Amino acid sequence: MKHKLNVLLIGSGGREHAIAHSLLHSESLSSLKVFPGNAGFSHDLIENPEYISTTDKQKFQTYLQERKIDLVVVGPEDPLVLGMADWCSEISIPCFGPSAYCAQIEGSKNFAKELMQRAKVPTASYSAFSDYTSAWAYCQKQMLPLVVKADGLAAGKGVTVAYKIEEVEQALKDIFIAQKFGSSGERVVIESFLEGSEASLFVITDGENYMCLPAAQDHKRAFDGDIGPNTGGMGAYAPAPIVTAEILKKIEHKIIQPVIREFKNVGHPYKGLLYVGLMISDSGDANVVEFNCRFGDPETQCVLRLLDEDLLKLMYQASTNSLETRTIQLKPGHSAVVVLAAEGYPDSPKKGMPIELPTSREPVIVFHAGTKWEGSLMKSTGGRILGITAYAKQLKDTLSHCYDYLTELKIPSTYYRKDIGRRAL
Ligand code: AMP
Ligand code: GLY
Repeated sequence: MKHKLNVLLIGSGGREHAIAHSLLHSESLSSLKVFPGNAGFSHDLIENPEYISTTDKQKFQTYLQERKIDLVVVGPEDPLVLGMADWCSEISIPCFGPSAYCAQIEGSKNFAKELMQRAKVPTASYSAFSDYTSAWAYCQKQMLPLVVKADGLAAGKGVTVAYKIEEVEQALKDIFIAQKFGSSGERVVIESFLEGSEASLFVITDGENYMCLPAAQDHKRAFDGDIGPNTGGMGAYAPAPIVTAEILKKIEHKIIQPVIREFKNVGHPYKGLLYVGLMISDSGDANVVEFNCRFGDPETQCVLRLLDEDLLKLMYQASTNSLETRTIQLKPGHSAVVVLAAEGYPDSPKKGMPIELPTSREPVIVFHAGTKWEGSLMKSTGGRILGITAYAKQLKDTLSHCYDYLTELKIPSTYYRKDIGRRAL
């Protein structure tokens, strides 16, 4: 890198707050602006919506050029699927995040399945349908459980793991008849059910070379004991012991390398972060459950706490074809994040609760998600509000730090899971 970088970070979640925290510690950073951000960011970091837009290409490009932005880091999937990385490359500004073509790996389950089939990547068998009648006729002949997935983006709500045929029927009706997911439900992917434990693996790549971050385990269900509705994620810990060094080697060989090669071969090298959602069977086989085209939330909040490298340098290298394939430098301990969510999340979260935060001390870092300022008052905006993270030599101590902080935190109408990381203890 020739000089220090002016960076623009897009997003407003806990993931982006954690990414910003790492970027601000980089010796390669000249300036950071965040859009739209949340109440966790200091006022001077947040960009004014008068100057920038994430939906108006012209306004976005003008902003990048006028502010001499050297690198755009895109947190969430929607702008990537809509082509934000392509807008950057049109004006030769590096972007950490894949092109719209590559982002289809998250934007269309059918695209991801076809790609995996071509690259011979291990995943559940599937069929895809564009109408209710043929999907339902097919499902009636299959073994249960079945997994019914709306093809397009559905904010994590488009997947039903159906144990009964009535659940399959309801999921298909929701998608095709009630059109609950709009155009994301114009097609459905029906998958066989995979047994095992899930893990999330983040891969930084420049389209050819890559580096793996430590695997994390997310807790997707709302309540203790993995019950209740699916959420964006209620907590996570890393490293996940289920992904042993031997299993990681298999994942690299059978999943990561073939996927990167496949994108390169079709003339669309994948740059940025590839999120591999895995199911690890008892016998140690790894199958892909899903790909995402961005960092996971809340896994990022804990995974980045293990990184012993300059994240900004890695992001810039990935965005400018200059990454090496090598082992990433990590801290030796364990990290975790426990999410504080609004009562009613994920279906109808309460909003507008006043937030007062007890002072946090290392090793606890609090990342904000659904928070905003109303004058001098901090208020919750619904959904996931905060991510309490910690790092320690032992996972047990890491979790104690998170939970000790949470017992001091008194925000009305909120809840959190008390069993994050318990499986690994
Ligand atoms: P996805 O959005 O594709 O990751 O699906 C959401 C969740 O549904 C995953 O995190 C899994 O818990 C579950 N899931 C998805 N596909 C499968 C599958 N083929 N077998 C078992 N569980 C699945
Ligand atoms: N925590 C799951 C995701 O980011 O998709």
